[in-house]
Amino acid sequence: MKPAARRRVQAPLAILRGIAELRQTVARWRCAGQSVGIVPTMGALHAGHLALARRARDECDRVIATIFVNPKQFNQADDLTGYPREEADDAGKLHALGVDLLFAPPVEEIYPEGFATNVSVAALARCLCGATRPGHMDGVATVVTKLLLQSLPDKAYFGEKDYQQLLVVRKMVRDLDIPVAIVGVATVRETDGLALSSRNVLLTAEQRARAPELYRVLRALAEQLEGGAAAGPPLAWGREELVRAGFDPIDYLELRSAPTLEALARADRPARIFAAAWLGQVRLIDNLPVDPGS
Ligand code: PAJ
Repeated sequence: MKPAARRRVQAPLAILRGIAELRQTVARWRCAGQSVGIVPTMGALHAGHLALARRARDECDRVIATIFVNPKQFNQADDLTGYPREEADDAGKLHALGVDLLFAPPVEEIYPEGFATNVSVAALARCLCGATRPGHMDGVATVVTKLLLQSLPDKAYFGEKDYQQLLVVRKMVRDLDIPVAIVGVATVRETDGLALSSRNVLLTAEQRARAPELYRVLRALAEQLEGGAAAGPPLAWGREELVRAGFDPIDYLELRSAPTLEALARADRPARIFAAAWLGQVRLIDNLPVDPGS
C-alpha cells in the first residue's frame, strides 16, 4: 500500500494558524525522512485546487495545503471583502483527499505590523495581469516566497490556469535560490469548457451561461494562430466575439511567448493566448497553448 493511502485512514487534517507550529511539524516529517509538497490557495476550493492536492499527494509523503486570502494581491477593496471564504467546507475536502495539514494563518501572522518587504519579478510581472492589476503579481510573489520559506517543501504545486503566476513563481524561486521544485498542473474545466475558478460562484445564472464563450474564443484563436499565422486579425475577431458575448471590459486578449511572455505578432515559437475579461463584476481569466507547428 502507498504511504499516502495508509495515512488517509489514520490522520485527521491538522489546521495550523502559526508559522512556528508549521515549522515544527515539517521538521518532524523531515527527521522521519518524508518528502513534503505544498499547495498554496486562497480557499473556496474546487476541483482545480483539488487536482493540485491530488498530484501532490501522489508525489509526496506529506501534503500541506494553505488557505490565505492575500490582501497584498488584491487591488480592489471590494474584491478582497467579497472573496468567497468557506474554510470548514474546504477542510472537509482536503481531509477527504488525504491532505495532512491545512495552514490557514490570520493576516497578522503573514504581515505583522511594519511589514515592509516586496518581492518583485521584473518583466514577467509587468505585463498581462501585472499591467491591469497594479501590484498584483508582486503581492503573489511576496506571499508565495513567504509560504515557501515558512514550510520549506520539496515541491510546490501551481495551476496553468494562472499561467503568468506559474512563470513568476518559477523565476522567483530560481532567482532567489529557494530549494523547491515548482510543478505546473493543467487547467481543470467544467464540461462546457469554463475554467474552474473560486470567482465562478459570483456569476449570475445569465452570466454563467455566457462565461464559456471565453474558452470557445480562445480555442478558435488557438486553431487560427497555429502554424504561425499573423495574430492581428484573429485577435481583433476574438475581441469582437467577446464583446458580443457580453464581456466588458476586456482587460487583454494577447498572444505571447510561453516561456518569456514576450508579445508575439505570430506564433512562430512556443506561444499561448492569454485573456482576461469581465462579466459584470466578475473578472475571468484563461489561457491556452498555440501549436507553432514545425
Ligand atoms: P487560488 O486562485 O486559490 O488558486 C490556487 C491554485 O489553484 C493556483 O495555483 C491556481 O493556478 C490553481 N487553480 C485555480 N483554478 C484552477 C483550475 N481551474 N485548474 C487548475 N488549477 C487551478 O492563485 C492563487 O490562489 C493565489 O495567487 C496564490 C498562489 C495562493 C497566492 O496567494
